[in-house]
Amino acid sequence: MANVPYVGCGVLGSALGMDKEKMKMIFHSVGLPGVEHIVCRRHEWERSPEVIMNAIEETLGYPCFVKPVNLGSSVGVSKAHDRHELEHAINVAAEYDHKIIIERGIDCREVECAVLGNDEPIVSVVGEVVSSNEFYDYRAKYLDGKSQIFIPADIAQGIAEEVRRQAVQAFLALDLSGLARVDFFIEKGTNQVYINEVNTLPGFTEISMYPKLWEASGLPYAELLDRLIELAIERHADRQRNRTSL
Ligand SMILES: Nc1ncnc2c1ncn2[C@@H]1O[C@H](COP(=O)(O)OP(=O)(O)O)[C@@H](O)[C@H]1O
Ligand SMILES: [Mg+2]
Repeated sequence: MANVPYVGCGVLGSALGMDKEKMKMIFHSVGLPGVEHIVCRRHEWERSPEVIMNAIEETLGYPCFVKPVNLGSSVGVSKAHDRHELEHAINVAAEYDHKIIIERGIDCREVECAVLGNDEPIVSVVGEVVSSNEFYDYRAKYLDGKSQIFIPADIAQGIAEEVRRQAVQAFLALDLSGLARVDFFIEKGTNQVYINEVNTLPGFTEISMYPKLWEASGLPYAELLDRLIELAIERHADRQRNRTSL
């Protein structure tokens, strides 16, 4: 609104990157495979918890993951192994948002790649996160310092190419610009690739995945910053081309 260039996604892309329900709707509409899920509203949960838990048990089973739709950093995310844990998990998620998403829990490896650009984004090599906990929760991400990252991920080349292709497709489908980290699950046993989410403001310290992925792809930290600023200026210039009056 102030008509100044800025790094990163615009309003729509940023909002879609936050809302796991709408993000998955768009992924689905362009054929990007995600994990089966159910979304419920807080008022529905409060009105008929038994109906919702029955539906989850019939369609997703255990374990399942319960999350607030609009959040991040694994805040409010739980893994439920039975009905008792499920009820607690939904109550926790409902403290953070009025929409709650429940997903089939899959036994998976977690890989991520970095996307950079506006209309013609480029994609980094793929990295893997190995969590220090049963899943990559807040403690494993930020507190215990025991999670590990591997760049490049030790996965078959065909799978890495598929992940990179899907990352660019997701970036374009959500109208992202500048930068995003796109996260995937690779199911153990089947090697099925599932897109999990995009992060439009990924961790950006020198030890964070996003800059490390670019470093490993031949773009050092300082040059990455220059490129992001250039992209912001390019997008701003492109917007100036739009007529705003009749
Ligand atoms: N459906 C799932 N199956 C297996 N693990 C999951 C699933 N959903 C989430 N997780 C685990 O929970 C973590 C946080 O979930 P995520 O959807 O990435 O939320 P956030 O936006 O908070 O990062 C993931 O990194 C992964 O370890
Ligand atoms: Mg995540």
